[in-house]
Amino acid sequence: MKKKEVQALRLEFDGISENEAFSRQVISLFAASLDPTLEEISDLRVVISEAVTNCVVHAYKNKGGKIKIHARIFDDRTMKIKIQDFGCGIADIEKCMEPLYTTDPSGERGGMGFAIMQAMSRKFRVTSRPGIGTTLYIEFKFA
Ligand SMILES: Nc1ncnc2c1ncn2[C@@H]1O[C@H](COP(=O)(O)OP(=O)(O)O)[C@@H](O)[C@H]1O
Ligand SMILES: [Mg+2]
Repeated sequence: MKKKEVQALRLEFDGISENEAFSRQVISLFAASLDPTLEEISDLRVVISEAVTNCVVHAYKNKGGKIKIHARIFDDRTMKIKIQDFGCGIADIEKCMEPLYTTDPSGERGGMGFAIMQAMSRKFRVTSRPGIGTTLYIEFKFA
């Protein structure tokens, strides 16, 4: 049987570091109806943080720009989250998804964001076009 969408949320906000915590809180609250375990909510928060941070620092180089999140909860207790930026885009997605790979010159980032997001979610997919932007499709399953 096809799963049915039971709740949906659309967010659009500026890609500045102040909004990392904000978006993480909003998505955590949205997930509250699923009565998540501490581990589930913690994983969700980490994934949102990593994704939004990438938009802020990589896509928009800390200069700001639009971020859109579309989150949906289904009757089989899955949550699908789409996170979209309109920044610089990624030329080589496979390379960027390798653990420890980073283009950050400061040495502050560990290059583990994508690896962490992939490990903590049930499904994880990236599409991107240089100069157009990047979209993440992430799926969680709640117990
Ligand atoms: N939204 C994005 N827009 C453009 N480039 C991105 C985006 N997200 C990730 N990247 C690229 O992928 C690389 C790896 O990302 P990640 O695994 O999160 O590691 P880190 O953020 O520590 O560099 C980044 O260094 C960056 O080059
Ligand atoms: Mg990162």
